[in-house]
This record gives sequence, C-alpha cells and structure tokens, in this order.
Amino acid sequence: MTAIDKKALIEERVNSGLLGHWYPVAKSVEVKTSRPHGVKALGQKLVLWRGADGSLKCIEDFCPHRGAPLSLGEVHEGNIGCRYHGVVVDGEGVVVRVPAMPECALEGRKAVKSFHVTEHSDAVFVYIPSLSRPEPPELVLPDELTSDAWTGFLCTAVWETNYRYAIDNLADPMHGCYLHSESFTLAYGSKQDLMRLDKTEHGFHITRVGQVGDNFDWTDFVFHPGTMFCFLDIPYPPAAGPGGNMRIVGYATPVDETTCKVFFWRMRKVEGLARASWRFLYRAALENNHWNVLEQDRVMLEGMPDDARRREMLYQHDIGVSRVRQILTREAKQQIEAELAQVAAE
Ligand code: FES
Ligand SMILES: [Fe+2]
Repeated sequence: MTAIDKKALIEERVNSGLLGHWYPVAKSVEVKTSRPHGVKALGQKLVLWRGADGSLKCIEDFCPHRGAPLSLGEVHEGNIGCRYHGVVVDGEGVVVRVPAMPECALEGRKAVKSFHVTEHSDAVFVYIPSLSRPEPPELVLPDELTSDAWTGFLCTAVWETNYRYAIDNLADPMHGCYLHSESFTLAYGSKQDLMRLDKTEHGFHITRVGQVGDNFDWTDFVFHPGTMFCFLDIPYPPAAGPGGNMRIVGYATPVDETTCKVFFWRMRKVEGLARASWRFLYRAALENNHWNVLEQDRVMLEGMPDDARRREMLYQHDIGVSRVRQILTREAKQQIEAELAQVAAE
C-alpha cells in the first residue's frame, strides 16, 4: 500500500466517523418497550428497543432471513419480530424463533451484530467497536451531566452535513458575533479579535483573546478514550433575567458521510427555587431563541459543499478547527494502521 492510499483511508475514516467510540444516537424517550426504533450511525443502520424491564437493546437493523429492516417489526417479549416473515431475534442478535418453519436450523444462531448500549441524561449512547477496542471503555460524561448542581434540557437535530462541519463550527467561537449577530443572546461583543489555544488535561480550550463573557467566546473540547464532547457558555444578556451563563454541552454523531445528528444539552447551574423558575422560563420563552440560533448554524453548514475543506484558506482564528482535525486524524491513523497490520498478519 502506498502512502497516498493510506492517507486516503485515514481521511475516509475521519469522514465516516471514528470507530471505538460511544455516540449518542437517540433521545431516551424515543426508545420504547412497545416498538422498535431505527437509527443510523457511522453509515450503519441500527435498531433499538427495550426489554420489558426497560433495558436497552441494540442490534443491526437487518433481518437475518432476507435483510428486511427489523425496525419495521414488532417487539415480542423483549425480542424483535421481523414484519416480513416473522423471524424473531433477541438483543444479542441470536435467532430465537422462525415461526413459519418448524425446527428451522437458523434457530439459536447468532446472526447479526449486537452493540453495547446505555443511556444517560435523556440520551441513548451506542458503542461502535474498533479492532483495537472491541469492548467499550467506560463512558466518560461531562460534569454538567453527572452533577446534580446542573439542570437542563437535551435538544437534538439532524443536519444534512458531515459531522466534521458541526465539530469545526463548535471549535470556532468567532462565528458567534457574525452568524448570530441578530440573535437575542449573541448580539454583543466586538467583531475583531485574535484566538488563543491552550492545552487542557483532556483536550484543549479555544478562546477569543480580547473578550470573555460577552458572547460565545470560548469552547472547551474534551477527549477520553472512546468519547469526545465539548462545552461552551452563552452569556445571558440582562434582559434574560438574573443568573449565570447558559452552558451548552455538545456532541455531533456521524450518521453517514453527508448527515449528522447533533446533541446539545442546554444546562444551567441553578438551585432551589431559581431552578424551577428557570426551567419554566426556558420552556416558555427562551427555548425558541435557542432554536433560532441553532437554525442559523444548520443553514450555514448545510450550504457548504461537502468538499469545502479542499479549497478553504484558514487564518489565525481557525486554530481550534485545525487542532480538532489533527486530533481526529491522529486517532484515525492509529485505527487504520492497526487494521492494516492485522491484514498483513493474516
Ligand atoms: S426478511 Fe425478516 S423474516 Fe424474512
Ligand atoms: Fe453557532
């Protein structure tokens, strides 16, 4: 294999999404005991459902008989029954029953892949294994999602763009005062600045040099084995009432090469009475503003050509974008090298 081929494989891996990671794929409420829920992640179709005790199951959305989507089927006693000819598969991907054919040899066979799945903070996370990390590492979550001091809401959206653009967008605080300049919470701050990048214990912090606290001024990217997320603050203008910033915790899950699903938790550190009143205020008034801001991001990113990256001309403000790409590429390189080494050993 030439160096060029290897480079192309690495680029392809970054584009389709790193393996060996936990990805949020659905809201918890979407996955029920009564019917299956189909999703797509990293180009793979998956089906999710719950056993009678609420436990999550995730297998390929592919019936072992002739490939019909199991997500069109039904949940029977904790297993999933294909709508096409009734074959029943369990949460491990094993064929439990072939009702149309007595003593069918398919029964008892592990026929489709199953995936580790868990949920936290209203989201369902699925582990997509890699060659060197077939078993999932511990799912490390942001403090905002694990500590009781924070409260918030999960919002999700499907964007018709490669997940890398969603990540780049988060690593680029400078767009706040331009793209979102008409919005309620982001209309403040200067339009000229420099960016600074600092290494942190588990990633990096990208921040505007000239202002902090006026707008979307910084992002913190966090990397742990098998997961990547970021967080940022949106200052509340005086009109939004007393209290601290709104913190956004963000994930971008690759759906396929031209689509991603973003998961944003809108969190606030408020306790006591203020907590309940903020939750009410958010639902009643603020949520809509935040959707409008997110729509501005979506429209801009969806308008960019898939290959924009090949023609772009970066400048100083893009150091966060460059760093996150470097980190993804480094991990993709390790994955590709491990896979090539295995092929060579066979
Ligand atoms: S394709 Fe599923 S039972 Fe035939
Ligand atoms: Fe934005």
